[in-house]
Amino acid sequence: MLQLPKLKIGDLTPAFPIIQGGMAVRVSTSSLAAAVAETGGIGVIGATGMGIEEMRMEIREAKKLTKGIVGVNIMFAIREFAEMVKAAMEEKVDAIFTGAGFSRDIFKWGREAGVPVVSIVSSARLAVLAEKFGAAAVVVEGTEAGGHLGTDRPLFEILPAIREAVKIPLVAAGGIVNGEGIARALKLGADGVQMATRFVLSKECSVAESFKKLYLKAKPEDVAVIPSPVGMPGRALKNAFVSRLLSGDAPAPEHCDGCLKHCSGQYCILNALENSRSGRVEEGVVFAGQNVHKIKEILPVKDIFSNLLYELKSFMGSIKAC
Ligand SMILES: Cc1cc2nc3c(=O)[nH]c(=O)nc-3n(C[C@H](O)[C@H](O)[C@H](O)COP(=O)(O)O)c2cc1C
Repeated sequence: MLQLPKLKIGDLTPAFPIIQGGMAVRVSTSSLAAAVAETGGIGVIGATGMGIEEMRMEIREAKKLTKGIVGVNIMFAIREFAEMVKAAMEEKVDAIFTGAGFSRDIFKWGREAGVPVVSIVSSARLAVLAEKFGAAAVVVEGTEAGGHLGTDRPLFEILPAIREAVKIPLVAAGGIVNGEGIARALKLGADGVQMATRFVLSKECSVAESFKKLYLKAKPEDVAVIPSPVGMPGRALKNAFVSRLLSGDAPAPEHCDGCLKHCSGQYCILNALENSRSGRVEEGVVFAGQNVHKIKEILPVKDIFSNLLYELKSFMGSIKAC
């Protein structure tokens, strides 16, 4: 029998210590989050880029589909951050994951609503701050992650110092796509892992087929770090749009909804993410983690879990020895 550590997020303990990372602009919606939750992980709806009503509907839909643990991910960088968080809490979402900046207020709101808050961090300094303000756990994200990045340092380089610095549960994220990656993270003291790129290549992820095809044919050299108007770099697949960005020829925004608290105005990230999600992959940003090339097939979420646990079994011996 495979003995996995128990990951506790507030009063919640998923059957498996695996969180599906929230993915903005409708990459992780209720279909994916509910499938992960139903399989025994924590499923996370990426609420950034959704309207408040749309997010409420997604939470309700996910809760209809599963009694498992469903969270939402809301980036601090968005203008409607407070309203989104409060609406998600009203919907009695099980947990809130937040990164791309740091809110102190969210912990008070979480305490009042009885909803655990998990901070996504890339440094010991921020992890300690999150613990002090009342985070239920921290997700430690290394530079291998897809999406916006808080560090240029690899996960397994930053993880030990952050493990030392905090007592709250720690979840490792960035570049983990198989059982070997999970085993390494647990060995370094993580209580669980967060994975996103692996779950894009699932049957239940609702992005366009052409988005998944770009993932499937990616080679290691096809992943780039790009500038983003959010003010942090992002990790994405190379395509025509990224070539324009990297050569300093970003297309100026055609209109602006003012979705970010601070936007450099370089290009519209919301539009670029929506283009790729809906299938115009050459005209948009396709966020992906550094190890996307290691994933070879699109599978149902329950098969992804079976494979991860099977692979993990062969590495558990070395974990126990530690
Ligand atoms: C397509 C995509 C969109 C993402 N969007 C968000 C987001 O909205 N908020 C966030 O905190 N992280 C976001 N991330 C980061 C993931 O939640 C996760 O922590 C990270 O990708 C883990 O690395 P991996 O993809 O190599 O597993 C995104 C990642 C991807 C691939």
